[in-house]
Amino acid sequence: MKNKKLAFIFGTRPEIIKLSPIIRECQRKKVSFFCIHTGQHYSYALDTIFFKELRLPKPEYRLQIKSKAPFRQGEHTGTMLIEIEKILLREMPYCVVVQGDTNTVLAAALTAEKISTTSHYTGFYIKVAHVEAGLRSFDRSMPEEVNRFIADHLSDFLFVPTKNEQKLLLREGVPSSWIHVTGNTIVDALQQSLALARRVNGILGKLAISKNAYMLLTLHRQENVDSKIVFKNILKGLESVYEKFRLPVIFPMHPRTQKRLKVFNLKIPFGIKVIEPVGFLDFLSLEADSRLTLTDSGGVQEESCILKVPCVTLRNNTERPQTVLVDANVVAGTNPENILKAAIKMYGTSRRWRNPLGDGTAAKQILNILLK
Ligand code: UD1
Ligand code: UDP
Repeated sequence: MKNKKLAFIFGTRPEIIKLSPIIRECQRKKVSFFCIHTGQHYSYALDTIFFKELRLPKPEYRLQIKSKAPFRQGEHTGTMLIEIEKILLREMPYCVVVQGDTNTVLAAALTAEKISTTSHYTGFYIKVAHVEAGLRSFDRSMPEEVNRFIADHLSDFLFVPTKNEQKLLLREGVPSSWIHVTGNTIVDALQQSLALARRVNGILGKLAISKNAYMLLTLHRQENVDSKIVFKNILKGLESVYEKFRLPVIFPMHPRTQKRLKVFNLKIPFGIKVIEPVGFLDFLSLEADSRLTLTDSGGVQEESCILKVPCVTLRNNTERPQTVLVDANVVAGTNPENILKAAIKMYGTSRRWRNPLGDGTAAKQILNILLK
């Protein structure tokens, strides 16, 4: 076990949140590990706050490779390759652990594999463990789909949330012994933080809203906010949702969305209350007590499903079909009428679905498998 040093590599809000249960499990079991933060996310509200709230150690390596999205994504990913390689060659971990589908994930997995192809020279291999493997939207125009597909096919350990992703990976030719159905670590993260979120909860009071009498909105996907037409359509749909239900829509706005809103000179409709992105605890409180979530986020689709809050997905597809299959989520697209229809449907839905995403032991299972 001593030789099995792990390298956690992450760079964005959801990666920090979803890797946190595994990192804490490493601390508990005294497993040797270190962390590299690529700096893809860097604003306090998308980065530092999560280290504090989730009681995570300061990363040993902190890079500053900020995204220039929507431009020069090759440069963004390539710079990470160069910088991550220097660290991995020095640290020689047994395995690199990545989560999800960001540029950071692609760069980290590829760097580890590139180093392994020179083992005749360096004398060592680095394995790759992909947490939340096997998800597919089947939409190659999404940067996330490209990243997750390549990361999966570079990985030695593929930790999938459900049997559905296992099936998809088998169909793509991944050997079955490399795939492990563990559930999604977001269930662990949520279970570990929800009670605390409830205890410190003051966000509803601060926003002057009450339980079940508001909706929660997040929006940040490239395909939604980098296109003026699509962004405008979504806002129109949200306006009609407000007109129909007259419930305030709380919108912690991602910096990317803030920037695009300004560039496109778009107006936020009446009834939608924009706030700065919040920490995990405040966000969980907002999610748990919301009447409905409207989102293009992957993590928010999952959390809504776990918390038994109906979800309307503001996209044309989802790589989380399990949430739709149990009737917790509906994929609305971005057309205003369809957004309203989906909101009406989900507003009236019963909340009796079962959580298909795991039992909160994913982190323990993942670490046991890595250290076997
Ligand atoms: C990235 C991921 C996406 C994930 C999301 C989580 C890629 C290609 N995309 O998208 O899969 O769902 O993170 O939130 O990896 N910005 C800031 N402060 C920050 C971070 C970003 O101002 O802390 C702004 C910058 O202008 C940047 C833009 O947001 O150019 C986009 O950042 P980027 O990390 O490329 O994409 P996200 O939309 O955050
Ligand atoms: N989240 C948060 N504060 C916010 C919005 C989201 O803490 O203001 C959390 C949310 O609980 C979820 C994660 O961020 O765990 C989702 O991240 P995001 O939507 O940025 O990325 P995605 O899941 O789409 O990759």
